[in-house]
Amino acid sequence: MRIGVLTGGGDCPGLNAVIRGIVRRGVSDYGFSFVGFRDGWKGPLEGVTMPLDIDAVRGILPRGGTILGSSRTNPLKVDGGIKTIEKNLSDLGIDALIAIGGEDTLGVATVLHEYGISVVGVPKTIDNDLSGTDYTFGFDTAVMIATEAIDRLHTTAESHHRVLICEVMGRHAGWIALHSGMAGGANGILIPEVPFDLNEVVGWVESRFRSHYSPILVVSEGALPKNGDLITKDATLDAFGHVKLSGIGEWLAGQIETRTGKEARTTVLGHVQRGGTPTAFDRVLATRFGLNAVTAAMDQDWGKMVALQGTDIVRVPLAVATGALKTVPLARYAEATAFFG
Ligand code: F6P
Repeated sequence: MRIGVLTGGGDCPGLNAVIRGIVRRGVSDYGFSFVGFRDGWKGPLEGVTMPLDIDAVRGILPRGGTILGSSRTNPLKVDGGIKTIEKNLSDLGIDALIAIGGEDTLGVATVLHEYGISVVGVPKTIDNDLSGTDYTFGFDTAVMIATEAIDRLHTTAESHHRVLICEVMGRHAGWIALHSGMAGGANGILIPEVPFDLNEVVGWVESRFRSHYSPILVVSEGALPKNGDLITKDATLDAFGHVKLSGIGEWLAGQIETRTGKEARTTVLGHVQRGGTPTAFDRVLATRFGLNAVTAAMDQDWGKMVALQGTDIVRVPLAVATGALKTVPLARYAEATAFFG
């Protein structure tokens, strides 16, 4: 079998480990050959490829980013996009695709599968918001990076008796904020799933100062005040219709300064959370996802996404994985509130 592999959407640590797992097992155990598609769905859409063999994947396990490149190209927004992909696959002699991506990339894979193209999905995103899997790879690394930043913010906050706010990614799911905030001992965590009450946040800040410590707040980029609006960077949308988030941290700092008279500063972690080498957990998860994705192709089990459930790698229908976002359950958030204020 000849398989095309692509990585789409925002990059994340562990992508190269997945690619390596796919190629190593696919070539050695199944005698498959591979074609790398460049820059997400742009590759199959425009027929842009690169060689993908054992030599190409040597040494890439700990490397961040993706050797294939990535993009947010949406073939469903291109006239005749699916037909063009089908033709390019046939011209290149490709029998099947392994798509490594989040809700957008795998949303396209779901439609291609319904159309009759042989495809397997691998769940990638630092946001950890894909359904059907306990974790996506990249999330653990993002949480580790954010936790280290929060640890550092604690000491400088104490020196200056300031409120320090750490704004993290996650789009409409608060997983990164919840986990890094709990791991970093934040005095308040604000997530998109639970609109916050500004007076309550001010209360946490004041109570923390009363105990002679400086407050650290972790805010998800998609968090919003009760009866308030989502704060976006600008008015543009990407090819999948997503707004660019960021700005809630700055807004919150201004509100806290006005209401408490204390200095407040914001650190926006941004793309640092997506860069660099994956943690050991993500390397192992990504490798297992790659190995199991190519086995799903061997079994011709199309339209499935490999997923982590407990400690097992299972297969779930792509349509289930991309049907609804996996957001933070209220009970999980409630656990974290024991440490607020
Ligand atoms: O989906 C992953 C993610 O990192 C989100 O957390 C964030 O909102 C978005 O991508 C940023 O994407 P871009 O690469 O377009 O800046």
